[in-house]
Amino acid sequence: MTAADTALSLLRTLTDAPAAGTWSAPGRVNLIGEHTDYNDGFVFPFAIEHRTHLALAPRDDRRIRVVSSFDPTPVEVELSALSELFPARRDEIIEWARYPLGVAWALLESARETGTAVVGVDLAIASDVPVGAGLSSSAAIEGATAVALDEVWGLGLDRVALARVGRRAENDAVGAPTGIMDQMASMLGEPDAGVFLDCRSLDTEIVHLGFSDAGLDLLVMDTRVTHAHSTGGYGERRAACERGAEIMGVRALRDLAVTDLPRAKTLMDDVTFRRVRHVVTENQRVLDAVASLRAQGPRSIGGLLDASHVSMRDDFEISVPELDLAVDTARNAGAIGARMTGGGFGGAAIALVAHELVPHVTAVVERAFAEAGYAAPHVFTVRPSSGAARDAARATAS
Ligand code: GLA
Repeated sequence: MTAADTALSLLRTLTDAPAAGTWSAPGRVNLIGEHTDYNDGFVFPFAIEHRTHLALAPRDDRRIRVVSSFDPTPVEVELSALSELFPARRDEIIEWARYPLGVAWALLESARETGTAVVGVDLAIASDVPVGAGLSSSAAIEGATAVALDEVWGLGLDRVALARVGRRAENDAVGAPTGIMDQMASMLGEPDAGVFLDCRSLDTEIVHLGFSDAGLDLLVMDTRVTHAHSTGGYGERRAACERGAEIMGVRALRDLAVTDLPRAKTLMDDVTFRRVRHVVTENQRVLDAVASLRAQGPRSIGGLLDASHVSMRDDFEISVPELDLAVDTARNAGAIGARMTGGGFGGAAIALVAHELVPHVTAVVERAFAEAGYAAPHVFTVRPSSGAARDAARATAS
């Protein structure tokens, strides 16, 4: 059964009312530009074919009910109670439900500003985005919920506004202090293209990736080491970046260039300096990757992917041994470039690999994990795919 069908049949467990439709939004892989988004910097992610689907039926009262493939027990709240729950009492809501309910809350805050009246809804969510793999299953839930509710509630928000709604849900309803990269990728992704995003202006350029024309595949190596950005390391890294920007007297690390680094080194402690150096050099690597891709195609960006990983491992210190093993093994087995992707502390690494080498690289990585005594990794290819949308009508027949 497809995830869209699962969402429709889950909806049947809530209501007999006909579905108004199904909507879906993708997870993402970040090609390059890690921990640069909340520093007002540059990122270059793409949407993947794994998606979260959502089926929706309007109600004739003002309650919202959600059910999902993560948990069979529905969660039910008065729409008017959302503003009491978020952010202060979010702990009363089971974690998975904070994503869709948080989006409903953030959208209602926008609707309040425009005076739009909204109806209650039943929502059913099913996902084929691996959870905890660093592929942004959370942005996929937020994106699917945002496009569905925006349409049914007639809010007419644009894609960037919907991405902001997703980030607000993640920051305030879930409590993860993340940036806006994942939501923008999930909203704006296009087939065979990356989303080059300036996280200060939120200007985007869709850049053709051309992996398959160049005979390349993008391999994801999910280490199965799970992580959560609402705890610990992510927030600490963010705080270090803010400290570094303050010491340097700039609004955000985006405002520093590589040539500012020697001065930064004299002004701050070693750990803060290395956090700053990662962000400043990573911003430059994003710009270089986009330029190089445009000028010479995807085979030219391998060295930048490798350098990004080294910077995250040694300066930002967000890698784990499983990610390093995946990256090193893939490189030694012939990948053009490899790096961990996403927030770190677990999740997945990516490798750009010649199509004919995919079975070999996969086998070698699996063997290396077995020899190291690690859990078997989940290794698969992804295709740059389209962003959040209403699904084709045939999928919504109920
Ligand atoms: C997570 C966050 C993003 C971004 C990345 C690191 O995926 O959700 O906003 O900060 O980590 O690049």
